[in-house]
Amino acid sequence: MTIGVIGGSGIYDALPLENTRTESVSTPYGEPSEAVTIGELAGHEVAFLPRHGEDHQHNPTDAEYQTNIYALKQLGVDRVISTNAVGSLREDLPPQTLVVPDQIFDRTKHRTPTFFGDGMVVHMGFADPYCPALAGHLAASAREATDAETDVAEDGTYVCIEGPQFSTKAESEFYRSQGWDVVGMTSIPEAKLAREAELSYATIAGVTDYDVWKTDSEVSLEEVLENAAANQDSINATIEHAIRTMPEDFESEAWSALEGTINTPVEAIPEETRE
Ligand code: ADE
Repeated sequence: MTIGVIGGSGIYDALPLENTRTESVSTPYGEPSEAVTIGELAGHEVAFLPRHGEDHQHNPTDAEYQTNIYALKQLGVDRVISTNAVGSLREDLPPQTLVVPDQIFDRTKHRTPTFFGDGMVVHMGFADPYCPALAGHLAASAREATDAETDVAEDGTYVCIEGPQFSTKAESEFYRSQGWDVVGMTSIPEAKLAREAELSYATIAGVTDYDVWKTDSEVSLEEVLENAAANQDSINATIEHAIRTMPEDFESEAWSALEGTINTPVEAIPEETRE
């Protein structure tokens, strides 16, 4: 088992990995956002990738989603813990709450959401976009690894916007009216690509702001950054605990997600057996 971690660079700095090395992985999509750092924690191999590059050089639209997922798969990763900063759409999810969502609503417009194409059509199930087994383990880890001050919310819908601008008030009110819980910019297409790569994938999101439905003005970048920094300790503690306590008998339905879904290009099917 190799556990992938995709998140901000602060997470890698904080995980007490041993015997670390960096690997430059080359994929058909190019190079990932950074060389992958690989190390050991509690007997597990861990492969870490900062989603936006170590210097935050990729914005949410053009982060190297395909390359990052492909690179982790190529390194033998079978489960991925991701982290995101999110705005809250609910009064009772204040900044510094940790949220392990179970649903996504995709509002992105300019991202490639699949590895397939060029005559290879794959329609796969995505009803539960986060792996329930990994999400459950992450939520339990968040509760066990953080102090009593840290609120942990399990389940909820993450609406993924294109960005890089934050939402308008009308959008934010609309998301609330749908009953959605948090808003962010990075779970799509990462979760879709992870499923196509048959990786178990879940996220631990840290609330940084109340989005614009609650405030009289814009989302303050200063507030987002301050709370993102404040969330770092609890997110790091959660990830470390989740790795240390990863169940031996962990199983994910995502590992067979492609079964029965690949439609071979019609030219490849012997003529006599075509319907
Ligand atoms: N990331 C952090 N806060 C956010 C917000 N309010 N909207 C979208 N992405 C965010």
